[in-house]
Amino acid sequence: MEFPLTHVRYVALTMPDPAAEARFFTEEWLLDAVSAGGGDGHFFAGAGSTEPYLLRLGAGPARSLDLVAFAGRDRAAVDMLHARLVDKGERIIAPPAAFDRPEGGYGFRFFDLDGRAIEISSDVAPRALPGDPVGEGVPLDISHVVLHTRDPEAAAAYYGEMLGFEVADWLDRRMCFLRTGPKHHCLAFLTGEPSLNHIAFDLGSTNSVMRGVGRLMRGARRPKWGPGRHTAGDNTFAYFITPAGNMMEYTAELETVGPDWQPTTYAMSAEIADQWGTGTLAGPFTPHVSTRDPGLWNLPTC
Ligand SMILES: [Fe+2]
Repeated sequence: MEFPLTHVRYVALTMPDPAAEARFFTEEWLLDAVSAGGGDGHFFAGAGSTEPYLLRLGAGPARSLDLVAFAGRDRAAVDMLHARLVDKGERIIAPPAAFDRPEGGYGFRFFDLDGRAIEISSDVAPRALPGDPVGEGVPLDISHVVLHTRDPEAAAAYYGEMLGFEVADWLDRRMCFLRTGPKHHCLAFLTGEPSLNHIAFDLGSTNSVMRGVGRLMRGARRPKWGPGRHTAGDNTFAYFITPAGNMMEYTAELETVGPDWQPTTYAMSAEIADQWGTGTLAGPFTPHVSTRDPGLWNLPTC
């Protein structure tokens, strides 16, 4: 069976001072500030992605995950998923329609089991990639999004039943990696109060991740955790905290899996989380504390 979704299209965040956060993403994280999307906000594309934007930052009273947008395989998949969600009695925010945005598109929005606003779309006009070669240390695309939820088993079941995700692996039963194609995961759920844990950007290679880490550290940013290499997904990682307090990851070399992939439940340990044991060399590991996102069940800001 084909997966009805293909990838994370973009993530929207709100915060009291989006301009400061936008400076970080432009000047330090090295996303491309673009005029896209229409409406208010700061929009950022990735140097290796044809998505019109990967990240939207908007103003809000508190730091919040505004929306997660997934790409449907095609318009029929979008309509099929909408019909399924209606049939299951899920809360639709906006039914399928053509988007009034510069890049067009067709899709709908709904609230997931925790009250996150989710957008499913197709037929978004791709942006032309810059002709110049992309240097190392630059994020190319969204790799994955990790969300906190009180019950990762329930979230994995919901995203499987509603949107066709399949489980790639578990860490204990506390973290579930979900895939919607050959990539090991583009979405994961981790136990905690419903909120964003992090957004990971793919830099294409571990060499590129390390150049990005070096640039950020010379700019006096310290990784919250990393650089290192995870076991589930086998990707390299380095996590940083933005001025607004959002956690972001530089990653690369996330493994691809075949249709006969069988999930493993790893017993969580320091070596499973961080194969090389390098993750805390830049500073002590301080666990991310999840607090309930104040934007749950709120309509997206745009
Ligand atoms: Fe990650």
